[in-house]
Amino acid sequence: ITIRQATAGDEIAMQHCNLTNLPENYQMKYYLYHFATWPQLSFVAENENGRVVGYVLAKMNNDEKDVEPPLNGHITSLSVMRSYRRLGLAERLMSQAQRAMVEVYGSKCVSLHVRVSNTAAFSLYKKTLKFEIDSTEAKYYADGEDAYSMKKNLDGLY
Ligand code: ACO
Repeated sequence: ITIRQATAGDEIAMQHCNLTNLPENYQMKYYLYHFATWPQLSFVAENENGRVVGYVLAKMNNDEKDVEPPLNGHITSLSVMRSYRRLGLAERLMSQAQRAMVEVYGSKCVSLHVRVSNTAAFSLYKKTLKFEIDSTEAKYYADGEDAYSMKKNLDGLY
């Protein structure tokens, strides 16, 4: 399995992977906004036939308190197709995105949201990638579930 930077040509395959694996879905223009604005931050995992079996969609945040350029990376969405899980692909995709945030934007920090019930993703973030819970956001998701807002300091990494 190869990890490579995502391009606009991957949009349909990433959207398919997202629709298969997650209830949080996005319009085509939101993917294209990511590729156009932060072209180095999103990655796909491709199998030997060139099929996209996982992706990470990532961006930089522009909080009002942020300086320019923004220093806070954000993971918009991550998923891996079921038969390709537990092979380390999510960890590799996340590491590539984090590294690019640091190398391209000098990012100091990366954040994300995850459902409180999503034990697989939570242990990936907490145990494997060393994110910490920053806060719990009540009813963050459309179905009323709470989110953990998680953060990781990128200072000195990569
Ligand atoms: N149960 C417990 N721990 C898990 C699980 C699981 N099912 N899956 C991964 N982990 C943890 C383990 O610590 C694992 O290390 P190990 O295999 O050595 O024990 C570590 O994470 C690394 O796992 P990877 O193989 O890199 O993860 P994978 O490629 O399987 O992808 C993911 C994990 C993305 C959560 C996958 O299960 C998935 O696509 N789930 C559905 C979509 C989803 O929940 N996406 C994240 C939403 S949050 C967001 O998008 C910001």
